[in-house]
Amino acid sequence: MAITQDKKYAILTSGGDAPGMNAAIRAAVRTALANGLEIYGVKYGFNGLIKNEMEKMDRGSVSDIIHRGGTVLYTARSKRFHSQEGVQEAVEVCRGQGISGVIVVGGDGSFRGARDLSACGVPCIGVPCTIDNDIACSEYTIGYDTALNTCIQMIDKLRDTSQSHDRCSVVEVMGRHSGQLALNVGLATGATSIVVPEVPFSFERDILQRIKETSAKGKRHFLIIVAEGVGGVMDLAKRIEEITEIETRPAILGHVQRGGPPSARDRALASRLGNAAVELLLKGESNRVVAVQGSQLEHYPIEQALNMIKTFDLNLYKMTHMISN
Ligand code: F6P
Repeated sequence: MAITQDKKYAILTSGGDAPGMNAAIRAAVRTALANGLEIYGVKYGFNGLIKNEMEKMDRGSVSDIIHRGGTVLYTARSKRFHSQEGVQEAVEVCRGQGISGVIVVGGDGSFRGARDLSACGVPCIGVPCTIDNDIACSEYTIGYDTALNTCIQMIDKLRDTSQSHDRCSVVEVMGRHSGQLALNVGLATGATSIVVPEVPFSFERDILQRIKETSAKGKRHFLIIVAEGVGGVMDLAKRIEEITEIETRPAILGHVQRGGPPSARDRALASRLGNAAVELLLKGESNRVVAVQGSQLEHYPIEQALNMIKTFDLNLYKMTHMISN
């Protein structure tokens, strides 16, 4: 049975944090307040919902956060919420508190939670936020642009030292199942080679051969970008050095990619999507994900969004390799 009281919303952030989460929270809270609604901030994602850890938010709760990385609501990956009991506990909390809509800011794992909660009569709207940019229904996810720029800044620094020493750098960027970040980092840093989970790779052909070819054209320092989902940068660096005799250094950029002030693009996207999520709840919608395609905002049923597969841009991948050869 759906909850009928409709003037109290809640917002939570869930899964890996991403720059721009705070801007999304701010936009959702301010939109709710502008519409005369109460809105509660839930701490630690679905865990906080189960434990009824929530606080009423006012205008000041979201002041001075648009420029901050991380999430003022904290985040978690809730194991408990994977069980029917966990979902039921959260439903009881929502009923008890009179929560009639929940905005879930996160990635695909978080949307599964939002789908399950919606199915139990608590209307939910998902806001795509992950540095992986792996939510197929949305061209961009909040946090991706900032992470991309963070990677580029760090790799530009690596490039200086790699160039001074005539070295090869093998750099791992985040993306457990997705090479989106790696591909665009590689494109923007002029990588010699990009290794992603979506494209089968051969060490000889895609690394050694490419180093050999570019070296023959006069290049003296090299950059290999590896997506986390492929991993193995330590071994890769060792093998490259052993075979080519080019000094090679591995680097794992790690969680620094998830922090820092959101870029202008992420702030704007987060503000638009946070606002759109509340507006959808106001229209009586539930179980949907807001998304951006081009400059247009769209929304999709969560199940459909989860089943969509983000196509890897093979042409861009090939072009990137062609122009850095
Ligand atoms: O989904 C975002 C992401 O940063 C992935 O790229 C990465 O594999 C994962 O989260 C790391 O998660 P954790 O914060 O648990 O180390």
